[in-house]
Amino acid sequence: MNKFIKLLILACELHNIVIQKTIEKGDYMSYINNGNNLVFGGCDTVALAKKYGTPLYVVDENYIVERCEEIKESFLYKYKNTNAVFASKAFLPLAMCKLIAKQGIGLDVVSGGELYTAIKANFPLEKIIFHGNNKTEDELYMAIKHDVGRIIVDNEYELELIDSISKRLDKRVKILFRVTPGVNSHTHEYITTGQKDSKFGISLSDDIIFETIRKTKVLEKVDLMGFHFHVGSQLLDNESHLKALDIVTELMYQSLKRLDFVTRELNLGGGFGIKYAFGEDRKPVSYFVDAMMDKLYENCKKMNIEVPSTAIEPGRWLVGEAGITLYKIGAIKSIPEIRTYASVDGGMTDNLRPALYGAKYEAVIANKVNEKKVKKVTVAGKCCESGDILIKDLEVPEIESGDILAVFSTGAYNYSMANNYNKITKPAVVMVNKGRDRLIVKRETYEDLLRNELY
Ligand SMILES: Cc1ncc(COP(=O)(O)O)c(C=O)c1O
Repeated sequence: MNKFIKLLILACELHNIVIQKTIEKGDYMSYINNGNNLVFGGCDTVALAKKYGTPLYVVDENYIVERCEEIKESFLYKYKNTNAVFASKAFLPLAMCKLIAKQGIGLDVVSGGELYTAIKANFPLEKIIFHGNNKTEDELYMAIKHDVGRIIVDNEYELELIDSISKRLDKRVKILFRVTPGVNSHTHEYITTGQKDSKFGISLSDDIIFETIRKTKVLEKVDLMGFHFHVGSQLLDNESHLKALDIVTELMYQSLKRLDFVTRELNLGGGFGIKYAFGEDRKPVSYFVDAMMDKLYENCKKMNIEVPSTAIEPGRWLVGEAGITLYKIGAIKSIPEIRTYASVDGGMTDNLRPALYGAKYEAVIANKVNEKKVKKVTVAGKCCESGDILIKDLEVPEIESGDILAVFSTGAYNYSMANNYNKITKPAVVMVNKGRDRLIVKRETYEDLLRNELY
């Protein structure tokens, strides 16, 4: 290689290091470009806002691919008989279905609508598991007719429906029981699910769980494969997963001893936390799965039972940090000695989580990322609710109407929870990847809002 080329490569590497440093400075997977603008997924966010309008969801495809690779390396290839599905409630446009299918990961759906999306995207249906605490007869019919891989049964009512539909359609159905292990997780009450007092899952009281297993064993077309638990969401430590695992391995042991029932599959749920605030850290998936697999192997050895095949179903962990939302700042109102409100052109219609359960977000002014932060503002949405506040006391440089605000970690449960309160249209979604951008969901129009309305 001649000297000139070597020098050129060195210069490029140095340039990359400089860029990498600014990524760290930004504390997110984004960096400042030569001007003053935030770059995300290789794209200038201010240019994206101009091209597609605001509010705008921007999702980095490469980030999702990297997380899928991490799941494969740290779980699927590392341990025998493992399966991973993406909890599609976190984010499910058709393009996401295609992307997940391409990565060889399965899908967890919880409604006829999510299943329909997967069917339309030609998602391999045997890789789908169907969840929900009140699946309707129509939804169960649809799932069984399309031969979804597993149905996670939440209650006895559903079991009876599955029994009857499977006979009517003459189809075998593989199911797992979702159980409530009675574990309280360290997260918001609205996203904890494993405690005894929960709308989800079958109670582990002896007279309920063993009776339900006994009944299921004799069903003609239904194969009970094992158990499922999901202890909560946005968990930053593995404590509740491990506690639940102890309880469920005991259930496996007791089911074998009392009913001669062999647990062939165990689904460990999702719930792995991500980074929302600056300074927080997303744990690698290995932090959760290694501890759980060690415990599972250890417990099964102690109890002298076979290790079942295992599955995980992360949602937020796979896509949360892949997304940002871009807004335009409009009205700025200062109340002397109290606070300054900076209102944006979206709010609880595109990000319900702060209003729903006080979720915290970080943001920057996308066209002023290099500028010194000099004040705090409260970012307000445009809905007619005083609770429509996206971020309290955000540090910002001097701001003015027309500035672009970029809110981080909005990839999960933002687009999927978007709503039309105040007849506000849902934003577009743009997928970015190493400097390229493509529209994957069109912005809603006023006509879309009235499509189903009649006089
Ligand atoms: C059964 C089940 N699995 C997986 C998930 C995904 O959770 P997370 O996005 O926190 O990984 C949820 C979320 O509610 C769930 O209810």
